[in-house]
Amino acid sequence: MKKVTQGPQTSFYPLPTLLIGAMVDGKPNFMTAVYGGLANGKPPMLSVGIVRSRYTWGAIKVGATFSVNIPSAAQAREVDFCGLESGSRVDKIGRCGFKVFYGDLKTAPLIEQCPVNLECVAAHIIDLEMHSLVVADIKQTHVSEDCLTDGALDPMKVDPLVFLTAPARKYVRIGEVVGDAFKMGLDLK
Ligand SMILES: Cc1cc2nc3c(=O)[nH]c(=O)nc-3n(C[C@H](O)[C@H](O)[C@H](O)COP(=O)(O)O)c2cc1C
Repeated sequence: MKKVTQGPQTSFYPLPTLLIGAMVDGKPNFMTAVYGGLANGKPPMLSVGIVRSRYTWGAIKVGATFSVNIPSAAQAREVDFCGLESGSRVDKIGRCGFKVFYGDLKTAPLIEQCPVNLECVAAHIIDLEMHSLVVADIKQTHVSEDCLTDGALDPMKVDPLVFLTAPARKYVRIGEVVGDAFKMGLDLK
């Protein structure tokens, strides 16, 4: 197959679509982020990339509590809005009709309508050119009851909103099951 070089690009597919929640100026606020992923298995840690000009950034420092809310595909409009408007100017919670609750950490605002909510504490911050990479401990996980199968989180029921980065810039759903991980490759061993 002939290849065409495209220069350095952020061509990672797919990206999770996340709503980052924090108390900013004493009030809960949520911003959309797709620069996010897992950082460590045990203890569970994640990373999010936040541009330092974001209003939300004012609440993030090492030791700070914040949340990562995983929206379902049905929440695409609200997610897009939270990435188009700043909490410095607009009450995004009121506009989106989010019901906010607090968990173990007490200070990380969580969105009831999002099927999965992670309570986090920032452990490391790496300042990159554009984003600051926040590596955080996941302290608690809340899951909507209707997204459980036999008591365990069922990602198919979460129906997470997934982002395709540029040039597509689309929200999509996860697709069909391809096979069983850690099993499919065994016959090539
Ligand atoms: C699809 C999408 C993905 C985004 N991903 C990020 C991201 O990963 N990091 C970031 O800092 N901003 C990201 N943004 C932009 C912020 O969500 C946006 O600037 C927002 O207004 C910030 O809110 P705040 O000012 O209330 O903190 C994204 C926006 C959209 C629409």
